[in-house]
Amino acid sequence: GFVHLEDYAPPAWRIPHAELAFDLEREATVVEATLRLEPDPGQPGHAVVLDGEELELLDIEADGAPLPADRWDYDGRHLRIDGFASAFTLRTRARIRPADNTRLEGLYTSGPLLLTQCEAEGFRRITFFADRPDVMPTWRIVLRADRAAFPVLLANGNPAGTRELDGGRHEATWENPHPTPCYLFAIAAGQLRRVTHTLRTAEGREVELNVWAQGDDVVRCHYALGAVERALRWDEQRFGRCYDLEVFNVVAAQDFTMGAMENKGLNIFNARYILADEESATDEDFLAIESVVAHEYLHNWSGNRVTLRDWFQLSLKEGLTVFRDTEFSADLHSRALKRIEVVRLLRARQFAEDAGALAHAVRPDRYREISNFYTLTIYEKGAEVVRVLQALVGEEAFRAGMDRYFADNDGRAATIEDFLAAHAAASGSDLSDFARWYAQAGTPELWITADYDEASGDYTLQVDQHTPPTPGQAHKEALPMPLRFVLFAPDGGVIDAAPETDAPALPGGGVALTQATHVLRWRGLRARPLPAFNQGFAAPVKLRFEYDAADLAALARFESDPFNRWDLLQRLASGALLHTLDPEQATVALGDALGALLDDDAADPAFVAECLALPDFDTLAEACDVVDVDELVARRESLLDRLAEEHVERLQRRYESLAAAAGDGLTAPAMAARALRNACLAWLTRLDPEATLAQAQFATATTMTARLGALRCLVHFEAPGAAAALAEFRTRWAADPLVTDKWIACLASRPHPDTLDDIGELLASSWWLPTNPNRVRAVVGTFSRANPLGFHRRDGAGYRFVAAQVEKLDGINPQVAARLLGAFETWRKLAEPLRHQARLALASLQGRLHSGDTRDLLQRLLDDA
Ligand code: ARG
Ligand code: ZN
Repeated sequence: GFVHLEDYAPPAWRIPHAELAFDLEREATVVEATLRLEPDPGQPGHAVVLDGEELELLDIEADGAPLPADRWDYDGRHLRIDGFASAFTLRTRARIRPADNTRLEGLYTSGPLLLTQCEAEGFRRITFFADRPDVMPTWRIVLRADRAAFPVLLANGNPAGTRELDGGRHEATWENPHPTPCYLFAIAAGQLRRVTHTLRTAEGREVELNVWAQGDDVVRCHYALGAVERALRWDEQRFGRCYDLEVFNVVAAQDFTMGAMENKGLNIFNARYILADEESATDEDFLAIESVVAHEYLHNWSGNRVTLRDWFQLSLKEGLTVFRDTEFSADLHSRALKRIEVVRLLRARQFAEDAGALAHAVRPDRYREISNFYTLTIYEKGAEVVRVLQALVGEEAFRAGMDRYFADNDGRAATIEDFLAAHAAASGSDLSDFARWYAQAGTPELWITADYDEASGDYTLQVDQHTPPTPGQAHKEALPMPLRFVLFAPDGGVIDAAPETDAPALPGGGVALTQATHVLRWRGLRARPLPAFNQGFAAPVKLRFEYDAADLAALARFESDPFNRWDLLQRLASGALLHTLDPEQATVALGDALGALLDDDAADPAFVAECLALPDFDTLAEACDVVDVDELVARRESLLDRLAEEHVERLQRRYESLAAAAGDGLTAPAMAARALRNACLAWLTRLDPEATLAQAQFATATTMTARLGALRCLVHFEAPGAAAALAEFRTRWAADPLVTDKWIACLASRPHPDTLDDIGELLASSWWLPTNPNRVRAVVGTFSRANPLGFHRRDGAGYRFVAAQVEKLDGINPQVAARLLGAFETWRKLAEPLRHQARLALASLQGRLHSGDTRDLLQRLLDDA
């Protein structure tokens, strides 16, 4: 059944303090929980109801005496205790089986390690507890285990003593003094090694930072450790937030369902977001590591100190923390490149989610399975909504609003209303219309029409806002948002005059759109101007304005906003590919613009590389009402071929001239040089059936960025030497699961329908590890999300393959299986015969799925809403 937002009631029993003792063993761990339970005086007369799943209850006592059997009942999901009207202490002992836990929720094994993942509802698989975020005890955690197998014993909070026990066992105690919900509980035990660094916070607290990994992996933890320190300092400077414990521990795990987890004082990470050196990790990997490390660190305030009242508020921590981590990356590196990265993801994936069968609001009002709401909408759109708020109130008022939010809600379980109340108070603005951003699904569209009167020189822009219907939400209201714009004179000069308009002016320039329609009017312009909009992508919308190819090309020269310069070229490319512009004119204009960029040695090579990367398949498909996969891919390939041929000499020149700059080192210029060289190499390889450059780059590469860039070219263009390069790469990195995932993903994304045969071979080999989420994603996730020609095979075999894997994986790790089903979110837009094939593949799963995760998703995919 559904959980509904409107049904929220505060907990009838509170748990101010919890003490847990673990006797850790791989096969069977015994958990003793001692909980102080206090009734809410406002809601007397409730039984105590605790969550508990797959727990073997061994003992139960209240206030030191065994609880008689007629006072409690455990049905496998809930433990119900009757007959208490006032505070008491409950003690339970239960046995759990970590080594059998392939779901990776609760306590599980990853190789020799014992680890936990509790968010959202995994803690109930560890012990009996009120598994909801508004129950926030302080914690004392005791870990006991064999010293040889588990020399390191970590939990949340501060270390509070260790001692030796009999029989080669030892014990460590941890205390977490901050009120913390159980989804932030964590332990990690095993043969872990660390890199460490001690610093003093701006408040004067000495903090030990540790990053832990297994065995030799520890040498690849230095970059992550540096990222922790950078994030800590940035939050002090930018948001005035300090760290609040004596230690901050980070642990890398090879088996981890998601990216990482912000457990209080003990972040646990998917190893791919920790382990890196230049030999084994690409520049993109390094940047992703820094951003995920920052994301989890920054949760310490946005999520942990201020936590969530209920899971409907998920974006209150996730959207806000993504906003914060992208600001962190933008401040440390290039703001424009970060914005381009974010908008690419938003357009390719979040816009598609917002328009597909799984569309939901940033704050949904019901769910069956909360794990299915860790989505691009909650995270990325949620972050955009925070950015819109900042644009509307201005940066200064926004910072004051954040201070107020943290101050007013510290130690509390908050709601989106609390967040908006703090910002409304600090900025003095009425945010009641703004709250619609959280309730309304779908991507808003701005339709802008221009009118120029030659005689008077009057120029008007009419801005109409419209959001298309989404499942269960037919009618949409206007959303307040910034509209930034610049008018250019025909010679490229900026027209400075402010328009007459009823739309309020914004602190950072532009106006606030507050209604469905606004008009902006300029008087007495000497010639029809050329307008550019949405600089920096300040509003997360689809913007419609009737440009022709010449307009876009001119604007790309006039515009000083780097994001928009990139975006104008993306528009030219989309227009050429989707035929919304005259394809020939658009192609010529795009070719000229790219030629000029390639000739411009003063432009940041990383920016040029972004401009060479045309809109990807998902972004193009998102813009179509009906998706003809083969046609779209074919058009994109032929545009790329033509542009590559047009610029072959320029590409060669840049490839060569950046060779020295692209050597080793993680400096911005070196990374930029490698990015542009790889982009040039991919274009040049199209033209060279021998793939000479790619073979040479592969043979001489000194960084993974260069090596993988070359391997991708060889494999994807089916060049001679591809098999040999793959074999060499595979052998060299056979012992490294993360690098192995890279060649597998390279293979699984080869753009050809027969890639499915290679995948069949992989699945029959020892490379296939269905219990390892990274490996499953490298094989099945890459195939379904990054291989349109394979997944959308006309015979439906791609769909049937993914459906069959979903069914198998459902019995292993339901969250991973449910994620894979997401590849079908826009199946209704597919042109026949694909639509029919997709429906058949989905329908074949009906009645064959067992987890709540996959059943919820399948039902939403097939619902006729
Ligand atoms: N809070 C984590 C993060 O974003 C993600 C946890 C995801 N858990 C899940 N069951 N989906 O940093
Ligand atoms: Zn997060």
